[in-house]
Amino acid sequence: MKTGYVELARAQQERWQAAYASDPRLHGAEPSQAARWTTRLFAAAGIDDVLELGAGQGRDALYFARQGFSVHATDFSETALDQLRLAAQREGLDDRVTAALHDVRDPLPPADGTVNSVYANQLLSMALSRDELRGLVAEIRRVLRPGGLFVYTAWSTDDASVACGIDHGDDLFEQNGFAVRYFDRELVDELAEGWEFGAADACTEGPEPRRLWRVTQAKPA
Ligand SMILES: C[S@@+](CC[C@H](N)C(=O)[O-])C[C@H]1O[C@@H](n2cnc3c(N)ncnc32)[C@H](O)[C@@H]1O
Repeated sequence: MKTGYVELARAQQERWQAAYASDPRLHGAEPSQAARWTTRLFAAAGIDDVLELGAGQGRDALYFARQGFSVHATDFSETALDQLRLAAQREGLDDRVTAALHDVRDPLPPADGTVNSVYANQLLSMALSRDELRGLVAEIRRVLRPGGLFVYTAWSTDDASVACGIDHGDDLFEQNGFAVRYFDRELVDELAEGWEFGAADACTEGPEPRRLWRVTQAKPA
């Protein structure tokens, strides 16, 4: 049952759908810095398949596939996933990219311990309550095999835009109709409890540029 920001999350889903419908390259055509970094990490760990959450139009999923990974991309925007599937077909990557509608406030579909890696670029900063975030990270831990890797990025409280826009409380702000949660180090550390903690690196992304956390954690073997 969804118990967090129910109305806000519903409005966010519509906001994302509309944004993707009006701009087929909302986040640009290039992969994120985080995806480039993560392909190197996963390849070095001998991982060749990725479950991507909040994949949007698939700039990173397509990049993973171009690098030879198999990717299962999920998002709660069917519009974005249709665009992703079409782009994968056009590039001849559809044998390596699958896409499915999934709201991360719901349990993850995979069975326990069956997934090698999970990647989520800027998804954890969406309109999720702290309980939903904890539940999501527990679900990711459940589906990963022992030793499996989870890499995510989230907006940092060090970003210049922190505390701008409509304040929904609890470090969640709405700017231009998009909700963003800013992560401080305490939240990063809390979400790493029970994991083997790899690193939490401060990094930047995009033209502004945005200040993000890039976090790597492993399910204990
Ligand atoms: C900032 S965008 C990042 C998209 C993609 N990761 C990228 O970097 O291009 C956040 C994405 O999370 C998705 N999203 C937000 N809340 C979600 C939820 N509860 N379940 C699944 N996807 C969600 C949005 O539709 C959007 O595609």
